[in-house]
Amino acid sequence: MILSGGPRSVLDSDSPTIDPSLLASGKPVLGICYGQQLIAHLMGGQVERSDKREYGKQVLHPAPNALLTGEPGQVWMSHGDSVRRLPPGFELAASTETCHVAAMQSPSQKLFGVQFHPEVTHTSNGREILRRFLIEQANFSRDWTARNFIDESIESIREQVGEGRVLCGVSGGVDSSVAAALIARAIGDRLLCVFVDHGLMRKYEADAVIEMFQRYVPATFVHYDASEQFFSALAGVSDPENKRKIIGAEFVRVFESHANELQGCDYLAQGTLYPDVVESGSQTAATIKTHHNVGGLPEWMRLQLVEPLRLLFKDEVRAVGRELGLPPEMIDREPFPGPGLAVRIVGEVTKERVKMVQDSDYIFREELFRAGLVSLPPFGSRASIGEQNSNVEPIWQSYAALLDVRSVGVMGDERTYAHPIVLRAVASEDAMTAHAVAIPFDVLERAATRIVNEVDGVNRVFYDLTSKPPATIELE
Ligand code: XMP
Repeated sequence: MILSGGPRSVLDSDSPTIDPSLLASGKPVLGICYGQQLIAHLMGGQVERSDKREYGKQVLHPAPNALLTGEPGQVWMSHGDSVRRLPPGFELAASTETCHVAAMQSPSQKLFGVQFHPEVTHTSNGREILRRFLIEQANFSRDWTARNFIDESIESIREQVGEGRVLCGVSGGVDSSVAAALIARAIGDRLLCVFVDHGLMRKYEADAVIEMFQRYVPATFVHYDASEQFFSALAGVSDPENKRKIIGAEFVRVFESHANELQGCDYLAQGTLYPDVVESGSQTAATIKTHHNVGGLPEWMRLQLVEPLRLLFKDEVRAVGRELGLPPEMIDREPFPGPGLAVRIVGEVTKERVKMVQDSDYIFREELFRAGLVSLPPFGSRASIGEQNSNVEPIWQSYAALLDVRSVGVMGDERTYAHPIVLRAVASEDAMTAHAVAIPFDVLERAATRIVNEVDGVNRVFYDLTSKPPATIELE
């Protein structure tokens, strides 16, 4: 068991707790931050209240007999309260300058605690600490492999679906592609993949999706080009939430208009991942944006769900995709929002504006690729990758967007009155928080020069420096 961190104080009577008998069961338990304090509190130690938080890096000095913490190294602290007196039977496992009980252990009871966060990258041997707990103390055998997962999934998909047919809405995104490829392995052409092109994809992306599915996913594949329908529904609309709702509703309409072809399906495949499962259990999240994915289906279809990836994290999904033989263009893609470029165009979405964003985005991505900052070129580009630049953080997501204002410029002695493009490149772990990546200035400058020269209707380029929060990754 791992007892995780949390913002509360164990000294408050209504804070989260566990049945103390769990700690006496002999099962290995690791308490992290709040978890360590909870163990100390329940086992007869003393936790000291503090209103001041300690936040940041510290150097860890492990005790010679420490079982988990091993080598001295940097650790990441983020706590208010701390353990003042060890519970009976426990020994000190590590300290830092500012925190005496930075780690504690009771090997005979298999109970361990750390005040810092081994799960974040700023803790230099955090992975090793977790490995020692899971392998040496909890005796896990570490036999999860993408291969085993695929074999087991194929069996359980066959069992669930029987002779039925499965419908899978695909967008070209990693999750739906890997889910489709996995289900196709299990039931072949009884899987119907439907790709609805809303006309809001990146440049050449729709063609690339069609080609990749035909090549790599042995299922029945249909493609509905519904771009005209989406553009007319979006005409004159500039409110972000309205745009999102209209796009969601149009997806449903496209499926409805093809009801005859889809009626033979009994199941609906979705690329739901474990973080989605966890998040949907949380009642505290406010609606910042109405998210939707390609699976927006009419109510009457009432299909049963097939969700083969629901226990996986994103990196495991990618490993499964790789093992299934999918190419990097399918599995190493950046996340792309369901409503597509509509959320990267502030104001009304028109064909001309989509083209401006597509062309600018193509150039930006090509320059990032040439500079070795992203691993994939834009669809259709023959550029070669530059030498990797390890001074720049890995990019989680990068794009060009269009603002709904105009400004004055001069080009070839002519006055221009045209739109600005915003470039954005962020680093993130999970899209919940993000910050702008320090793209080398020469790369930004090359992209900006090319965009203004090559894209009609654009006369300025900005780089978005805002982090999330307070901004979001997408503009809308
Ligand atoms: P924000 O803009 O909220 O985005 O910081 C967080 C992540 O979610 C993606 N995103 C979406 N993905 N449907 C999706 O499937 C959506 O409606 C949607 N809106 C935003 C965004 O690209 C980023 O990765």
